[in-house]
Amino acid sequence: MSNHSNHSNAISILPRHIAIIMDGNNRYGRANDLGRGEGHVAGKDALDPIVEHCLEVGVEVLSVFAFSSENWQRPAAEVALLMRLLTSTIHEQLPRMNKYRIRLRFIGDRSQLDDDLQQLMLDAEQQTAHFEVMTLVIAISYGGQWDIAHAAQQLAQQVQAGQLTADEISAELLTQHVQLADAPAVDMLIRTGGEYRLSNFLLWQSAYAELFFTPTLWPDFGANELDGMLREFSQRQRRFGKTSEQVAMQTNL
Ligand code: IPE
Ligand code: IPE
Ligand code: MG
Repeated sequence: MSNHSNHSNAISILPRHIAIIMDGNNRYGRANDLGRGEGHVAGKDALDPIVEHCLEVGVEVLSVFAFSSENWQRPAAEVALLMRLLTSTIHEQLPRMNKYRIRLRFIGDRSQLDDDLQQLMLDAEQQTAHFEVMTLVIAISYGGQWDIAHAAQQLAQQVQAGQLTADEISAELLTQHVQLADAPAVDMLIRTGGEYRLSNFLLWQSAYAELFFTPTLWPDFGANELDGMLREFSQRQRRFGKTSEQVAMQTNL
């Protein structure tokens, strides 16, 4: 593995925060004649090289969508398998987090999860809380609309307690109450598996993310393809509502 300073294909503008919708496990399983659920097992193993590549190039936050609030509607056996795989993912990731000094965090509605899993998530977060090299965020039982509603609920409670007035509620204040409020906004959002939708992932946090879609099924997605996307990212001009001339002026300063 090359280190930060002499990475052979240095990328000029890096995203600080990458979010990935890891889609296509079941189609991968079918395409490869695997047994029921084996596509999800392959998907679990595809995460490691991506984490390592993000670490290598210097990404600060990698957020991955593992289980959505809508995925509860899948057949009970598949939900149970996914929950078991999430448990093994956490067990397998912990030594890796310690080795690479990566902080592990979770976002989503934890109240829906088994007590054991909730406890494991808390323990993993506590054990890795002091690591600062990179943060890996795993979204479990997560929905962007739940996230925004949850933030609104917190603000409403502050209004009710007389700590805030309704007209003080602003986009900035909501930004401070959604999940990952302490992390940079999503710069780059990748979806594997060929669908062109966000499926309720980090809606608020991705307001100005650069979007990348690939037909590659998640278990086949690797560091090479990510590297190509990073290269393209560094070439896109992010205007944030301004004109390209204004942006060119800013970057030339
Ligand atoms: C993504 O793979 C994993 C989860 C949604 C949990 P899918 O299971 O959605 O795979 P496809 O999209 O049906 O191929
Ligand atoms: C999105 O994939 C959620 C995850 C990758 C965890 P889905 O397969 O659930 O998305 P839809 O149903 O095709 O929108
Ligand atoms: Mg899918």
